[in-house]
Amino acid sequence: MNGERFEPSGPLRGTLAPPPDKSISHRAAIVAAMGEGETAIHGYLRSADTLATVEAIKGLGAGVEELDRVGLGEKSASSTENSPNPRGSVALDLLISGVGLRGPRSAAVDVGNAGTLLRLLPGWLAGQPGGEWTLDGDESIRKRPVDRIAQPLTAMGARVSCRDEKHAPLRVRGSELHGIEYRLPVASAQVKSCLLLAGLLAEGETSVIEPAPSRDHTERMLARAGVALETRDVGTSLAIRGALPARRVTVRPAERLELGELFVPGDLSSAAFPLVAALLVPGSEVRLEGVGVNPYRVGVLGILNRMGAAVEVIETAPAGGEPRATLVARHGPLVATRVGAGEVPLAIDELPLVALAGCFADGETVVSGAEELRHKESDRISTVVEGLRGLGAEIEATADGFVVAGSGELRGGAFDSAGDHRLAMLGAVAGLASREGVEVRGLEAALVSYPGFGSDLRSLRGAS
Ligand code: S3P
Repeated sequence: MNGERFEPSGPLRGTLAPPPDKSISHRAAIVAAMGEGETAIHGYLRSADTLATVEAIKGLGAGVEELDRVGLGEKSASSTENSPNPRGSVALDLLISGVGLRGPRSAAVDVGNAGTLLRLLPGWLAGQPGGEWTLDGDESIRKRPVDRIAQPLTAMGARVSCRDEKHAPLRVRGSELHGIEYRLPVASAQVKSCLLLAGLLAEGETSVIEPAPSRDHTERMLARAGVALETRDVGTSLAIRGALPARRVTVRPAERLELGELFVPGDLSSAAFPLVAALLVPGSEVRLEGVGVNPYRVGVLGILNRMGAAVEVIETAPAGGEPRATLVARHGPLVATRVGAGEVPLAIDELPLVALAGCFADGETVVSGAEELRHKESDRISTVVEGLRGLGAEIEATADGFVVAGSGELRGGAFDSAGDHRLAMLGAVAGLASREGVEVRGLEAALVSYPGFGSDLRSLRGAS
């Protein structure tokens, strides 16, 4: 199998508008489909994962149209969240006609590679008496656990079954639900979101207690759609040491949702790749505009800050009820750091980049409490450790993370994405910062979240 080469790079320079946020795009499509009337979503991510969500809601009966750009330009000029859309073809402007909270029709849903779609959608469908759905996807998604949603949904009265009681295909037969109080064994925004959606259709109150806070995009979006949610800290006694306090989120049954109009900010998890590239390649300075900085997503910025990285965060106007910023990253020396369980949910998708930064840092970087990495698009403890070791890194896997002995450099070599989008991009960034370059096999996996990744990196090299 031939790969794509990423040669050692001169200084990276320039400005990028990273693609729209994947987590928020999934939620926007689902909540718009659950809603009454039309919702305009500006800057919906056009990637394999989020297009699977568009197809899924169409299958449930929602209408989806692409808004024409000229019309949109006029419309957004009157909006308080007006943001010119510099993200070109990776950002779609959609008009979604919802089927209403109780209106999805029975269907077979192909989730492709999208874990968020697989975990969130059943929450809505479980509370629809008379309906029947199957959710299935690609080979990789079939290895990812869904018992984490099937169990609490069953406790709410749902009729959900899955292969080996753990994996897709997942079958949902709609039924009457009742609210529960559920303590998440592990902080997970996907599981929390699933139960909150189910709670909108359940009798009584549904509360989710998370051991440490995870991204609250669903809570923000439901609030915008008119749902009265209650969120409160439940003290530090339940919290993992060093984490933000444990949190309880409560919803009650809703009559209707109405989202109206929504602007999707840029995806920090995608921006993190060119950002770390700039930190590692000498002489670089890269500016990333319009990036969502949800307080429960920005863990990577805190970690990099402790590593001594020069990342400037300039807050700009919010979008879609989410804070937004311009990030400016400059190359500089890095020192090792330790990341523990409390910080993990805040940086879960960026931990592979922490491993790479650790290779270039002075000292030993340790990530622990991150067993969840084993359940991502690949087993990201194994794939990151094996991948970086193949490039000359001194890195060891542990049961719940990894330990990197920083040497200040990386030799290079061949790197296999294992079909995982974040691994593909990790290999490419490693190549730019390496001594001998990296050949990335399976770079096309990046299309799941960051179409245009290769050309964005090239533009930064070209600008030097
Ligand atoms: C996501 C939550 C996280 C994250 C995933 C997207 C979401 O997963 O890793 O990429 O959109 O809610 P978990 O909820 O499993 O931690």
